[in-house]
Amino acid sequence: MDDHWVPEGYAAPNPTVYPWQWLWDSCFHVLVWLALGDGERARRELAVALAAQTPSGFVPHMHYLRDPGFHEDLWGRRGGSSITQPPMYGHAVAELVRAGEPVDGEVVERATAGLWFLLRVRRRDPSGLVRVCHPWETGCDDSPRWDDRCPDGFDRDRWRSVKDRLASTVETGPDGEAVANPVFEVAPAGFNALVAFNVRELVTVTGDDALAAAADELVGALADQWDDHLGTWVDAGPMSDGSGRIRTLDALLPLLVDDEPGRVGRVIDQLLDPTAHGGPAGPTGVHRGEPTFDPDAYWRGPVWPQLAHLMVRAVAPHSTAAAEVLTRTTVAGAWASGMAEYWNPDTGAGLGAVPQSWTGLALVLARQA
Ligand code: GLC
Repeated sequence: MDDHWVPEGYAAPNPTVYPWQWLWDSCFHVLVWLALGDGERARRELAVALAAQTPSGFVPHMHYLRDPGFHEDLWGRRGGSSITQPPMYGHAVAELVRAGEPVDGEVVERATAGLWFLLRVRRRDPSGLVRVCHPWETGCDDSPRWDDRCPDGFDRDRWRSVKDRLASTVETGPDGEAVANPVFEVAPAGFNALVAFNVRELVTVTGDDALAAAADELVGALADQWDDHLGTWVDAGPMSDGSGRIRTLDALLPLLVDDEPGRVGRVIDQLLDPTAHGGPAGPTGVHRGEPTFDPDAYWRGPVWPQLAHLMVRAVAPHSTAAAEVLTRTTVAGAWASGMAEYWNPDTGAGLGAVPQSWTGLALVLARQA
């Protein structure tokens, strides 16, 4: 983490592959800094991420502190991107407070405004769920859940050009922030679960009833997306009859905000089942029974530490034994991978950038255990 620290006040996810500040990475780094006993950098990194916020409350997913003109042509604005990422800052604020760190009032206000932006300004699906404007907003760039949007089926290169094109069809508000994308009208279960979870986390600090009620509405809408036959939550929008039902780990994140015993049991079983999401090096990112499952392909099967961390959190209130298995396997995988960005769920072979800052979540998991 020291080697990845950038003097402007954040940890690069990886200094060569990912030198900029990424929103959800930085929120996870807050937990890593706390586990390392460095409350000062935990608070600083969160404040710097939220400092990129626009007056509407929008927080960009990338913050180009070191070179504000970078990618201005792609995003149509300076300093940061026009799209966001899962608003993990609610959780980060709550974790800081639980650790006894003094959190600036301004940081709490910014976190609140960021969540209200998603709930009030961002376009909604008729289901009541919040839409994303780009696959990158989910953080799960190449998830099979988006495959219906890739002409002639998923292909890494074709999908790369689709993603670039989707950035240009984003409709923006007065600060250049994404409010809709007519070409990608998707309301993912995983993203919405993280909105609701982060609201509830922030509300533990602020006691804000209006915000809590908005989260309850989302939780209600998410319950309607459960498919009992498949055992997953389905994304709302045009892909809901196709790739939007593919069983991915992020689609099980509603467990963070759901305690209906039938659903809880189904999800926990799949997380441990070696023919579903179970793996000796952590939970697979895609269900092994899906034809698209590939244990080595970016977002299409490997273990992702930030998702594994969230699943431990979701499972712990219901089953200590399951949380223990997920923790032990994920920590083993993180270590075997050389603290990689993501890794093979069977061998722990490192994939993507090595080392990656958010894999410090393995320390957070080990300490919780
Ligand atoms: C990749 C991931 C995204 C992450 C970023 C930086 O783009 O898909 O979720 O935030 O890398 O680690």
